[in-house]
Amino acid sequence: MSTDKQGSLTVVGTGINTLAHCSLETKAYIEQADKVYSLVSDVAGQAWIQELNPRVVSLMPYYQFGAQEGDDYELRRSRADSYEAMVQAVVGAVQEGQNVVAIFYGHPGVFAFPPHEAIRRLRALGYSARMLPGISAEDCLYADLGVDPGDTGCAQFEASTFLFYKIPLNTASAVILWQIGVVGDHTLQRLRPAAGGLEALTARLRRHYPAEHPVAVYEAATLPVASPRIDWMPLSALAGARVGLASTLFIPPLGRLELDLAALRDFGLSPEQLVG
Ligand SMILES: C[S@@+](CC[C@H](N)C(=O)[O-])C[C@H]1O[C@@H](n2cnc3c(N)ncnc32)[C@H](O)[C@@H]1O
Repeated sequence: MSTDKQGSLTVVGTGINTLAHCSLETKAYIEQADKVYSLVSDVAGQAWIQELNPRVVSLMPYYQFGAQEGDDYELRRSRADSYEAMVQAVVGAVQEGQNVVAIFYGHPGVFAFPPHEAIRRLRALGYSARMLPGISAEDCLYADLGVDPGDTGCAQFEASTFLFYKIPLNTASAVILWQIGVVGDHTLQRLRPAAGGLEALTARLRRHYPAEHPVAVYEAATLPVASPRIDWMPLSALAGARVGLASTLFIPPLGRLELDLAALRDFGLSPEQLVG
């Protein structure tokens, strides 16, 4: 969408492993931008982006990290407030007439509020704003776990949303739960699961799956030389699993998809005629 207004936004994603996943199109946009905002999780990726375009500003400080004790630290304000501040920074730079690129790790439109919101606001103000796709954690998961979501379908939920809402589940499809590392945290300030969060998630999943059903805590590699973390365990062990901000839970199907014989009859088909 092009408009007469000076200033534009292109939201891009540099993947989970910036040095390996950034597309040529995204790289070209970064190089040509008047200003770049960047929220990438890998240090090597951030350094490379800085080389591509020195007019880059990291969005990481917007999180306002508090004091750290070991691996344990909290944010000094809610993630929702940080996201609002990020949106305002990006929108403000476009309103100054600059051609802005905002980089978010992974796919910028997947489980990411600020990119969508910045585009919404700028379009409403009459500016040109668009998003380019990137390689998400989900894409890496399919590659590393050897899973094809087309086989059985694959449902995905944010872990706390899954916990706190009545979400129906078809266990014959695969399931991906995002953000298990902060499951149950309603404050949006902690960078760990709420007390009892993993236990509650396990109990919720036990309504649908037996204790021995396998699940995988998955973390895609963020450096070209690194390996992914793929920890298979029985569901009953999930409550004691080590999870972090980059952990995603994969739950393979339980049982098989059930044929809808009435639908087949309507098509004049028998089960034997279905391929696969
Ligand atoms: C705010 S979302 C951002 C997702 C990102 N936009 C993407 O496209 O993958 C953060 C969640 O993504 C998942 N995630 C982020 N980095 C990951 C990694 N290296 N491996 C697996 N999952 C990851 C985790 O579920 C994490 O809680």
